[in-house]
Amino acid sequence: MTRRGLAWIAVATMVAAPAAVNAYPGGTPDFQTDVAPFCAACHSSVTVEALEGAGPRAEKELAANKHLASIVQGQQPYDKLSEADRAALAQQLQAVDLNSKIELVDFPPQVKPGETFNVTVIVTGGAGPVVAVGLVDRAHRWYARPASSTGWSVVGPPTVIGPDGKPQTEWLDRRPARMGRKITYVNITGVASDAVAGRWSKSKVIYTLQAPDRVGDYPLVGAYLYGTEKATKLGSTEHPVYGKQPLGGYGGKSGRVRFTAPIVISVK
Ligand code: HEC
Repeated sequence: MTRRGLAWIAVATMVAAPAAVNAYPGGTPDFQTDVAPFCAACHSSVTVEALEGAGPRAEKELAANKHLASIVQGQQPYDKLSEADRAALAQQLQAVDLNSKIELVDFPPQVKPGETFNVTVIVTGGAGPVVAVGLVDRAHRWYARPASSTGWSVVGPPTVIGPDGKPQTEWLDRRPARMGRKITYVNITGVASDAVAGRWSKSKVIYTLQAPDRVGDYPLVGAYLYGTEKATKLGSTEHPVYGKQPLGGYGGKSGRVRFTAPIVISVK
């Protein structure tokens, strides 16, 4: 490539980066729709099962290999930190993962065709300021589909109860009312975990679902998308416009995709 070509790429990157830094780190302020976790390609996995059937790729995508190894080895941009700080950061990020959980609770094991019922999703941890939750049909990063594709219908907008215990609608309200807000994916704001203080945010999302008309066993899985580095001082930087950013950057591997164990609800 010519020198001019390289210079052009450098300029293009500088122009593109600021526009991008308030999304993904920062959640998805613009996408109020069903989301499938394949979109979070940069994120790391927490289990090999999340990429079952993907061969050696499943191991490579694990946080320990995709994210933490580059910190411990001092690869860019983590080479800014001393070896001791990098070891401390890796340990703090492991604590974030240990304390970032998603659980499906308060759902009936069996419902009648067409019956309406609630399911609650509880999430803890995640760096914040945003985490995201979705309902999908399987615990797989590439093959999961929104739960609505398997026959569950979302009835009304999901109820999001933030870490302060108060309902929040701001994110969901950005979707025009005329399009309906019966979606399986939401962002939760006001999240602020701190790995050193051992402080972990906790929020919940209550979905009202309607069962399919056909009898059968239907799967339901919770998907959790969260960041890790911003829960630590060592792993954070300050952007003049967008505030706290992950040290690994927008294209870093510090995001995570985590699933609940699959549950099955019988419709009969
Ligand atoms: C270009 C890489 C990249 C892609 C693609 C990506 N993310 Fe992320 N995402 C990140 C990084 C890096 C973080 C972690 C921030 C941290 O460690 O604190 C993150 C964090 C998040 C968070 C938590 C927000 C926060 O500030 O920590 C959510 C929610 C999220 N991503 C959702 C998504 C969704 C949904 C998609 C697909 C539409 C997606 N991401 C695609 C890089 C990406």
